[in-house]
Amino acid sequence: MDHFLYRNGHLHAEDVAMSDIAAAVGTPFYCYSAATLSRHFLLFKEALEPLPSLVCFAVKSNSNVAVLKLLGDLGAGMDVVSIGEYLRARAAGVPGERIVFSGVGKTPAEMRMALEGGIRQFNVESEPELEALSAVASAMGVAAPITLRVNPDVDAKTHEKISTGRKEDKFGVPISRAREIYARAAALPGIRVIGVDMHIGSQLTDLAPFEAAYTKMRALVEELRADGHTIERLDLGGGLGIPYTRGNEAPPLPVEYGAMVKRVLGDLGCEIEIEPGRLISGNAGMLVSQVIYRKKAEEREFLIIDAAMNDLVRPAMYGSHHDIVPLVEPPAGEPQVAVDVVGPICESGDTFAKQRAMPLVQAGELVGFRSAGAYGAVMSSEYNSRPLVPEVLVSGDHFAVIRPRPTYDEMIARDTIPAWL
Ligand code: LLP
Repeated sequence: MDHFLYRNGHLHAEDVAMSDIAAAVGTPFYCYSAATLSRHFLLFKEALEPLPSLVCFAVKSNSNVAVLKLLGDLGAGMDVVSIGEYLRARAAGVPGERIVFSGVGKTPAEMRMALEGGIRQFNVESEPELEALSAVASAMGVAAPITLRVNPDVDAKTHEKISTGRKEDKFGVPISRAREIYARAAALPGIRVIGVDMHIGSQLTDLAPFEAAYTKMRALVEELRADGHTIERLDLGGGLGIPYTRGNEAPPLPVEYGAMVKRVLGDLGCEIEIEPGRLISGNAGMLVSQVIYRKKAEEREFLIIDAAMNDLVRPAMYGSHHDIVPLVEPPAGEPQVAVDVVGPICESGDTFAKQRAMPLVQAGELVGFRSAGAYGAVMSSEYNSRPLVPEVLVSGDHFAVIRPRPTYDEMIARDTIPAWL
């Protein structure tokens, strides 16, 4: 459930009409609902109760510092994959003890900064990384707390580009070699083994692959304990999917996911960490855009809008579906028209939807992309010299710009012309 509903004929984010925000900040813009973010975080937190747990928001899905502060103030931990994300979490006031560091390519410089600043744990993904971390930590006279990300070789049955837990994927250490690598970790001076980590993919719409992976994790924990390791923390990764199409899909709810986790892993006496991103931020955000032209070609009709693939790349990159709705509620029973919804960028891939049945929307009118709060603004670029679009946070009847739109001068001023040119 989210807080983007039509009221008095206008699409609102909580109690604010999004057309009012458009009038204030211009289009396109991202709009997030604080109540939806909080609600989704709390659903996960409650789903794991009464187990000791920490819900670590996957910062990669939405890294705006205001969003991180809102979640951090509710007690969220953060899952980061770069020191840039780490510094964002810290800037949002989240203490290092609540930040886990994931990612296949952590550099020694990043490891040092995280150890200096305070870190809950590193989720180590390879033997070379283990050696590097031990060297960095030993040089600082500390032992880095780690889990090993174990690749369970489970097919998450999601999009090819976001599946991460099969043996052909680049992530983690193979489960078949896990005991051997744990033994190596335990022997390293700068390493303190505390647990096991897995993350099998994103936008999973079925609990079965999770359950298969966690069942393998359970067996591994028992083996590792028998080998003499202290395993007190299990990081289960993120990945629970969201409905992108209203009415049609019903992925499992956090409460169902939590019940499965408790059933499979609940009696191990471990603290549970999860790293959801999309389920917390995805349906808590919309991208609002204005129609520039309605253009009739020979075969098709195009809705050319002022947002483009640089603002929301998911349709171009993964063929993802986002519901696109007018900000003014169409009269009930109004006929729908099939259109291609496209941006102004000079390539055909800049297409948000093909032959989408939509209510009639005219030039100058506003449309909103649902489910754009995760992997939206964070994946945007300035391609075609289009400045990054602003982000707005709504709470109740008020809103604030949480990242302003840069001016063209600001965008251009970042380039420098060498003296010899
Ligand atoms: N933990 C780790 C280690 C991850 O790699 C990811 C996502 C998450 C947690 C969060 O997964 P979530 O709960 O959000 O599914 N750009 C793609 C999604 C890439 C996901 C990458 N890893 C998209 O737009 O669909």
